[in-house]
Amino acid sequence: MNVIVVGAGYVGLVASCCMAQDGHQVTCIENNREKLDMLKKGICPIYEKGLQDILMDSLVKGWLSFKAELPDVLQGDIIIVAVSTPSSPSGATDLSSIHEVMARLSETVQGPVVVVMKSTVPPGTGRMLKANYFVGKPVSYVSSPEFLREGQAVFDWYNPSRIVIGTEDAATASLARRLYPDIDVPVVITDISSAEMIKYASNAFLATKISFVNEVANFCELIDADIDDVALGMGLDGRIGPHFLKAGAGYGGSCFPKDARALDYYCMNTGYDFQLIKSCIEVNTQQRLLIVQKLRRMLGGIDGKKITLLGLAFKPGTDDVRESPAIGIAHLLSKEGARLTVCDPVALDKAGSQLPDNIVLNHDIIAASRGAQAICLLTEWPQFIHADWKSIRDYMSAPYVVVDGRNSLDRQKLDLLGFMYCGVGRKLSSPVSLCQ
Ligand SMILES: NC(=O)c1ccc[n+]([C@@H]2O[C@H](COP(=O)([O-])OP(=O)(O)OC[C@H]3O[C@@H](n4cnc5c(N)ncnc54)[C@H](O)[C@@H]3O)[C@@H](O)[C@H]2O)c1
Repeated sequence: MNVIVVGAGYVGLVASCCMAQDGHQVTCIENNREKLDMLKKGICPIYEKGLQDILMDSLVKGWLSFKAELPDVLQGDIIIVAVSTPSSPSGATDLSSIHEVMARLSETVQGPVVVVMKSTVPPGTGRMLKANYFVGKPVSYVSSPEFLREGQAVFDWYNPSRIVIGTEDAATASLARRLYPDIDVPVVITDISSAEMIKYASNAFLATKISFVNEVANFCELIDADIDDVALGMGLDGRIGPHFLKAGAGYGGSCFPKDARALDYYCMNTGYDFQLIKSCIEVNTQQRLLIVQKLRRMLGGIDGKKITLLGLAFKPGTDDVRESPAIGIAHLLSKEGARLTVCDPVALDKAGSQLPDNIVLNHDIIAASRGAQAICLLTEWPQFIHADWKSIRDYMSAPYVVVDGRNSLDRQKLDLLGFMYCGVGRKLSSPVSLCQ
């Protein structure tokens, strides 16, 4: 099929490359000039495992091309929309890029086209877009929200948990299904608003699971219980499951924070007070403050202290720093007078302008830890977890504090090396283990 993908970001570029590899002829539209120039040269502008190779391969074989604008005439095409839908200050979703694309589509449609919305848009958006732009036009509209995870996006494209197709007619649903020819997973075919809601409800639920386990962890600290064991015991219940039960500095990224806020906003706007989502957001904000509080307590104050933050990306495997807890924590510490160094294997360039002015950037964990009185882990990159902690200790200064904001470090080992270790809801050593 001839497929046009609008937006070459974490979703659109992965979709473009994977669909090109699947045998579709793909044109990807990207309006950011700098990104477009890189893409045309086969340079992947984002860090995503496996993407660089399939981008180059698809370009060389002529299966994929990049352009700045949608063509002047659209007929017989499938158009996948994957542009950004960020938060606006009120919490509402900023749909300006979506409107821009829809206006251009409505001008250029000459014959039947299928528009597949992969951007996350609030429930009711599809219905509104159809009414505003496509009445009397040969446009079939599909909401097919994307669930891929950054850091394993290519794998997720080929191995999704489910495919959701929201549309008003069966013929369009079967056409949309042909976009994923070899993927054998459950397919949910529903109406447009329900498809849109599946995405918001899924992200809000996962965010709530994280905030829930963080609250349990905070309480564990008061009763001398251990969150790792508690989460292990909870997660073995098939109704709960082991995922998203890791306590830490809270969730971040380009989806959970903005989608939780948007759900809260649209519920309020519709006259429904979704109290649970409000608490989830509030707990997540507090969780960052608790990390700063732990550092303050262990160092006896922040002012003038040399602190190294490990990790800027909102999670390992990506260079995405949007709403990363590390950036918020860096600002909180900087305001209190900390002398900060930050280390991340891939995200330093992307974070640059969002960081406090006086922060030192370093790719190398040993160099970054030189003279630090405290280290704070905020992204659980394997290279941090498996670093040479003995050398790090040798380069640091007393009191050798480690605040593990991701509960991912070997606390016993760090204890033996002479660090003052503190996790989130974690005891220093734990008596419980899983016996087979
Ligand atoms: N990133 C994720 O993990 C993820 C997962 C599922 C869903 N989503 C949703 O998918 C959508 C895209 O997310 P993303 O992370 O890929 O965003 P992104 O910001 O990385 O990419 C969006 C791209 O669209 C481009 N763009 C914006 N307006 C355009 C226009 N008018 N014409 C052409 N290009 C345009 C931008 O320059 C950018 O490169 C969002 O709605 C997001 O909520 C994201």
